[in-house]
Amino acid sequence: MESLDDIIAAHAGREGPLLPILHDVQARFGEVSEHAIRAIANALNLTRAEVHGVVSFYHDFHEVADPRPVLKLCRSEACQARGVEALAAGLPDDGRVKVETIYCLGLCSVGPNAMAAGKVHARLDGAKLNALLESLA
Ligand code: FES
Repeated sequence: MESLDDIIAAHAGREGPLLPILHDVQARFGEVSEHAIRAIANALNLTRAEVHGVVSFYHDFHEVADPRPVLKLCRSEACQARGVEALAAGLPDDGRVKVETIYCLGLCSVGPNAMAAGKVHARLDGAKLNALLESLA
């Protein structure tokens, strides 16, 4: 299993290593912890504030792991035109699935679309979205 040091070492010699390191740390540990921020900053000769600023800027990075499954719902223009806002308004607020907004999944003609567990789900309606949420929870 890849350690934090392994991840940093794998990218440290590359140009612009910070984002690839953060993505790999997030994928491996489910979070970019304060400990990881400190180690990354030391390895890349950055301040902790610089690394923390990047972590807090991007929604894909979390300082504390959230074990809930994630549904990324496209709320860009084409999906809006196909009714995503009505779907979003009908989402349950039980908190079992973390719903995030994403802007365009590249399948605009078959929206409304969402991504979950690495798969894109197209042509969503209320029933399909509810079934998807149930399958994730
Ligand atoms: S606008 Fe939703 S997939 Fe492009």
